[in-house]
Amino acid sequence: MQDFIAGLPKCELHLHIEGTLEPELKFELARRNGLALPYSSVEEMRAAYAFDDLPSFLTVYYEGMQVLRTEPDFYDLAMAYLRKAASQNVRYAEIFFDPQAHTSRGVPFDVLIRGLRRALLDAEKQLGIRAQLIMCFLRDFQAEYAMATLLESLPYKEWIVGVGLDSDEKGNPPAKFAAVYERARQEGYLLTMHCDVDQENSVEHIRQAIQDIGVDRIDHGVNILEDPALVEEILAKGIGLTCCPISNGIVTDSMKAEGIRKLLDLGVRVTINSDDPAYFPGYVQENLAALNLSREELLQVERNAFEITWLPRHIKDAYLAELETYAAN
Ligand code: HPA
Ligand code: ZN
Repeated sequence: MQDFIAGLPKCELHLHIEGTLEPELKFELARRNGLALPYSSVEEMRAAYAFDDLPSFLTVYYEGMQVLRTEPDFYDLAMAYLRKAASQNVRYAEIFFDPQAHTSRGVPFDVLIRGLRRALLDAEKQLGIRAQLIMCFLRDFQAEYAMATLLESLPYKEWIVGVGLDSDEKGNPPAKFAAVYERARQEGYLLTMHCDVDQENSVEHIRQAIQDIGVDRIDHGVNILEDPALVEEILAKGIGLTCCPISNGIVTDSMKAEGIRKLLDLGVRVTINSDDPAYFPGYVQENLAALNLSREELLQVERNAFEITWLPRHIKDAYLAELETYAAN
């Protein structure tokens, strides 16, 4: 089965680029930028990754990314991920980035986006992996700051396919960002947002995302199973979910494998992704393997993924054809 998954043409739709910062690169960037880290080795750093819920993870995540300072730092970060993804036969990725996690500490938007963009272009040329960027707003910051970030992104609109919403969901419902999302839609961005697993008011947040915001897809969202009418609604609308089993297994009580499978059985466009693989150990290959899915289910997960990508129809179809060729052989 590992070989079957390895050969499968894959798609990644839920991946925080800052969450791919492996300890080795963290040390390299700290050295490059003349920064001291509170760890003496890669092993010691990994041992300090002792989180068991979303807030405790986020503390380590934001602390870790402070070594990212210059355009080449962002380039190297994205290139390292794209190399790893390409090695797992990920054919296409939609990559989240958190501009406010950098602009808030003095890194210009222009610096970070140019580094990421240059890596995407080089990876496509050198590795044959295609990728697009999704700009996420930090939901524990004020909506006004998200709006300012949205406006700051407009000169780079051609390089960003859509917007998302991440960070700590508790007390930060989708409705807080209704005006930001409305403006993002007017600007031509596609819309997604995290509805993290087992949050306070999870189902109400999912409802707001679908009915009040009108998202094009949902990141995580497995709690939708608690409301069959909402499941019917996303089935009718074709809204996909980007699930992340290994991440779930660390920040909640389980990988939510049963729920993911149930959604798949119901015909929901479920996809399997890696979230923050430097922290929740496992890239797409390992996340797909974690669920013990059948070949047919694995194929369906990748069909779902390519189908809900934010790519032009003809490019989607080319990836889907590649997948069916693999299935036939
Ligand atoms: N959830 C919410 N915010 C995040 C995550 C996540 O898994 N990863 C990075 N930011
Ligand atoms: Zn996420």
